[in-house]
Amino acid sequence: MKLYILLLVATGVFASSYSSRPRAEKLAPVVREGSQLLVDGKVWKAVGPNIYWLGLDENVIPPEGQPFYEPTKASYPTKERITEAMAMVQALGGTMIRGHTLGVSTGNPLSVMPEPGVVNEDAFETIDWAVYQAAQYGIRLLVPLVDNYDYYHGGKYNFLRWAGFDLTMARDSNNPQIQQFYTNATIVAAFKGYIEALLTHRNPYTNLTYAEDPTIFAYESGNELTGPGGDANCPADWVREIAQFVKGLAPAKLFFDGTYGIDPSHLDIEEVDVVSDHFYPVSTAKLQADLQTVAGAGKAYYAGEYGWLGGGGDSLESFFAMIEGSAAVCGDSFWSLFGHNAPDCSTFVEHNDGFTMQYGNPANTADTNRRIQLIRKHFVAMSQNRTIGSDEALPTVPCPAPTLL
Ligand SMILES: *[C@@H]1O[C@H](CO)[C@@H](O)[C@H](O)[C@H]1NC(C)=O
Ligand SMILES: *[C@@H]1O[C@H](CO)[C@@H](O)[C@H](O)[C@H]1NC(C)=O
Ligand SMILES: *[C@@H]1O[C@H](CO)[C@@H](O)[C@H](O)[C@H]1NC(C)=O
Repeated sequence: MKLYILLLVATGVFASSYSSRPRAEKLAPVVREGSQLLVDGKVWKAVGPNIYWLGLDENVIPPEGQPFYEPTKASYPTKERITEAMAMVQALGGTMIRGHTLGVSTGNPLSVMPEPGVVNEDAFETIDWAVYQAAQYGIRLLVPLVDNYDYYHGGKYNFLRWAGFDLTMARDSNNPQIQQFYTNATIVAAFKGYIEALLTHRNPYTNLTYAEDPTIFAYESGNELTGPGGDANCPADWVREIAQFVKGLAPAKLFFDGTYGIDPSHLDIEEVDVVSDHFYPVSTAKLQADLQTVAGAGKAYYAGEYGWLGGGGDSLESFFAMIEGSAAVCGDSFWSLFGHNAPDCSTFVEHNDGFTMQYGNPANTADTNRRIQLIRKHFVAMSQNRTIGSDEALPTVPCPAPTLL
């Protein structure tokens, strides 16, 4: 009885300080101990999809009058699409999402930072909603801060051009000048300014800044960061500086090294919690080599992207077996998930890179559904430590999916 009254009082305090808004459940923080991630003292695995479009999309032309940047086809995803994605991750047994445009949003009028130093508050609406609904669905977020490439959502080339370097991915990906992104003090300062604008943004749905919100369990230095010619030359000094900066703003977050491939010189950067690699195609030999490189370094390892729809390489079964058998692998995320064009529940969003998962699409082939079932079996094994049949029916996700308040 006494406890009951205390609970009422505690709830009352919370509600009165924040009564006019829906209330987000606060997720427990993720911490690292050696090569493992823990939540509430228990091993926690980061498994889920890549969903790059949650903050800003390129695949849907919105109705007339809504924000749209024609040159790159950039538009904001609907809240219904974002919420449905959370329900799909839950159905897949996932615990998290790796979401590029929740952090990488520079250089076009719909971006968080359209021009150097200019912050576009409108761009936060989709990110705020994604962070809020992720928390309500119990799903955590891993958010890259910059992209190695020059796509619609922006990346390192924006910062280079803003500093006066006339460089594009199409022309200059082998040009040594692109290393200025990592080495030029003016550009590094501008990038930190962007990170600060992002992490100090306060989400009106949760009244937490992104730095404070444990739903974003980790920031990643970037997506597939390389040097000229695609080598893994993302300088350790830069990784350390950015990791220290992020942890200065958000001490409770983990930091992922977004270098493409394992650079052994990064393994002694204290602020790096997790190192990662991407797999096109799936390769157990590459995974094994990575695990040998990181063995004994006291870091966690994460397979941040893999082509789940074939394209040569090893079987998903062999890849998942190796991941499940290694305590040093803290998780993995396939590339990549899409849903309906909600609120239009009669069509799915198309993205033609050859790796699109449209969860629940009745037009999926038997082989596609077999692969989705394998992924779900793997996620459940990783996140819930239990075995389900590889032919277990996939849970139905309603469209529209419920908004959780
Ligand atoms: C939101 O949080 C800030 C900082 O903790 C606090 O000052 C403010 O009162 C909160 N707003 C609401 C509506 O609770
Ligand atoms: C860094 O970039 C600035 C332009 O923003 C340029 O003036 C400066 O020369 C660059 N520094 C180096 C060492 O190249
Ligand atoms: C998983 O479950 C098995 C028994 O089913 C148990 O021996 C093992 O310790 C569990 N592992 C974790 C990480 O909980």
